[in-house]
Amino acid sequence: MRVAVVGATGMVGGIMFKVLRELNFPITEIIPVASERSVGKTIDFGGIEAKVVGLQTAVDMVPDIAIFSAGGQTSLDWAPKFAEKGTVVIDNSSAWRMDPTKKLIVPEINGDLLTADDKIIANPNCSTIQLVLALKPLHDKYKVKRVIVSTYQSITGTGMKAMTQLTNERNSVSGEMAYHYTIDQNCIPHCDDFTENGYTKEEMKLTNETKKILDPSINVTATAVRVPVMGGHSEAVNVEFENEFDLSEVRSLLHNQAGITLKDDPTTNSYPMPLYAEGKNDVFVGRIRRDESQPNTLNMWVVADNLRKGAATNAVQIAQLLLDKGLLVHSSTSSVTNS
Ligand code: A2P
Repeated sequence: MRVAVVGATGMVGGIMFKVLRELNFPITEIIPVASERSVGKTIDFGGIEAKVVGLQTAVDMVPDIAIFSAGGQTSLDWAPKFAEKGTVVIDNSSAWRMDPTKKLIVPEINGDLLTADDKIIANPNCSTIQLVLALKPLHDKYKVKRVIVSTYQSITGTGMKAMTQLTNERNSVSGEMAYHYTIDQNCIPHCDDFTENGYTKEEMKLTNETKKILDPSINVTATAVRVPVMGGHSEAVNVEFENEFDLSEVRSLLHNQAGITLKDDPTTNSYPMPLYAEGKNDVFVGRIRRDESQPNTLNMWVVADNLRKGAATNAVQIAQLLLDKGLLVHSSTSSVTNS
């Protein structure tokens, strides 16, 4: 496969290269793509030095797959140009997620929806992916009525600029700010822009994407908070079901769900945390307990590396699924390496 990574010099782009290699995605040519200011820089891909190219050059190279993680506007402007030439785009931005003609895919949940006609495929928001993966087996069994989710989100989700801000603050150096406020030693209840209803875009993504992926009848309300953490996003999730549940069955349903690892033993202080999830591809669930204030309601704590399952891993898994299902037509048999 000839694979372009758009946003190659960014936080997610870097992890994308790692995950492509770790999951042994069959690559004959890797094409790192970034803005004009990065053209000519080199990216190390498992010992191969690949040169960063601009977007038009990448479109003209007609890769089999282009994985985008360079912001919504870049996706809106460029994904159709790749798709027109026959390249399948897997887009990590929010540009296409709620477009009714585009599929929003978490392979373990709805990968079976993909067909050869899908030329632009949307990767859900990082916070949504870990939430829906934990909800899926429970929804199938007990039918979720309502979800209240509070997030504790890693600064890595904001990109390089936020990493620089935190590093500067920890070293008492002044510099460019990714956030309106100091993030070190702080919690900022503001992820992405505010919308007219008083919620942030991140909170509305959690709501709308969960409905699109799982079931439009599920009611979701969210509070998204940025915390000075690097390894992953955490979520306190309160779930009300239509039907009664059994706690040991909940644990076994989650245990059997592909992509979920259960880490839930209060007797040994075992529960998921970002430091533990960092660098891992699964979503981790723990602190599972009955909400004693209301019938048929459960509390759980869900943690994942937002750059991995929340972004790169999910995108690479979509690519792998397309390959396994025979939905990728080789645009070229070339095995040249872009160097
Ligand atoms: P560049 O490094 O050349 O600016 P992050 O969110 O971690 O900051 O990363 C954003 C990624 O998206 C970077 O690789 C960045 O490239 C890329 N990017 C941003 N804007 C554009 C653009 N207009 N065209 C192509 N790539 C872009």
